[in-house]
Amino acid sequence: MSTQIRTVVVLGSGTMGSQIAAVAALAGYTTALVDIKQEQLDRAREQLTARLDRDVEKGRRQRADVDAAWERLTLTTDRDAVAAEADLVIEAAVEDLTIKRTIFAELDEVCPEHTLLVTNSSNIVSSRVADATGRPDRVCNLHFFNPALVMQCVEIVPHEGTDPQTVERMVAFVESLGKTPVRLQREIPGFVANRLLNALRREAVELYEAGVADFKDIDLAARTALGHPMGPFELMDLVGIDVVYLIRLAEHEQTGDADALPSRSITEKYEAGEYGRKTGRGWYEYPRP
Ligand SMILES: NC(=O)c1ccc[n+]([C@@H]2O[C@H](COP(=O)([O-])OP(=O)(O)OC[C@H]3O[C@@H](n4cnc5c(N)ncnc54)[C@H](O)[C@@H]3O)[C@@H](O)[C@H]2O)c1
Repeated sequence: MSTQIRTVVVLGSGTMGSQIAAVAALAGYTTALVDIKQEQLDRAREQLTARLDRDVEKGRRQRADVDAAWERLTLTTDRDAVAAEADLVIEAAVEDLTIKRTIFAELDEVCPEHTLLVTNSSNIVSSRVADATGRPDRVCNLHFFNPALVMQCVEIVPHEGTDPQTVERMVAFVESLGKTPVRLQREIPGFVANRLLNALRREAVELYEAGVADFKDIDLAARTALGHPMGPFELMDLVGIDVVYLIRLAEHEQTGDADALPSRSITEKYEAGEYGRKTGRGWYEYPRP
């Protein structure tokens, strides 16, 4: 069995997949970025070009490294052709269990026996897709953070049936990307970093809803006392209040925990279509003065 990872396929060329593919190509891997929509691939190429060119202009990367990465990176809708050559497939398609299970079952058919199949999902733990394949021991979560070209942390989350060797290989892979692997011992929806963030967010919303402090003052405390670059309400506006709302619903669906349900003020904003920066209004109004 081949243990060396040389060829990486990233499925889904949205926010996460496009940058994960760029990270792999920059680290020297022969990489293919796949989507079902050509226009999405065109957009990914445009956005990555702009981003990497800006990095070169600002002196954060060498032009030769970026050019070499483009040489190693293929953008394609022909998933099966590239999957047949892959040592590692990173799935970063939409957060939908049915779609992910179909993708994993189909990948299992076309990928070589040794190929590792991992998911970048933030909430869908890999045991929920592993049993759609005949290789659950080679499946886990490999969770990058947004923006993947910048953020250091990558969480590695095995399910009960993941082979410890798969985990070791993912640790080595993450290190080879110049990033920091954070290992979990067992799976839990949301993993570690997002759960820490959610705990802070939940407390912040509770304090606000209880009338203890205005949301702006809670943000001020997080920035000036805790040294956070942004307060929890500012961060919600950046991530999208719709995303926060839907993640809570998904967590509730997985755990049955009533505490996971979105709180009153989040639900009100979601129902009013006030999603944050993307709609011009969330907790704050945009553009902010
Ligand atoms: N956005 C984030 O901040 C973030 C952070 C960490 C993890 N994640 C996870 O990463 C995954 C992707 O999130 P995103 O924000 O990049 O989504 P996105 O909506 O930006 O992109 C998803 C892409 O997948 C494509 N796609 C859909 N079905 C496909 C299929 N069968 N094969 C190939 N491509 C397909 C879509 O066309 C789209 O281009 C999700 O599982 C999400 O939970 C997201």
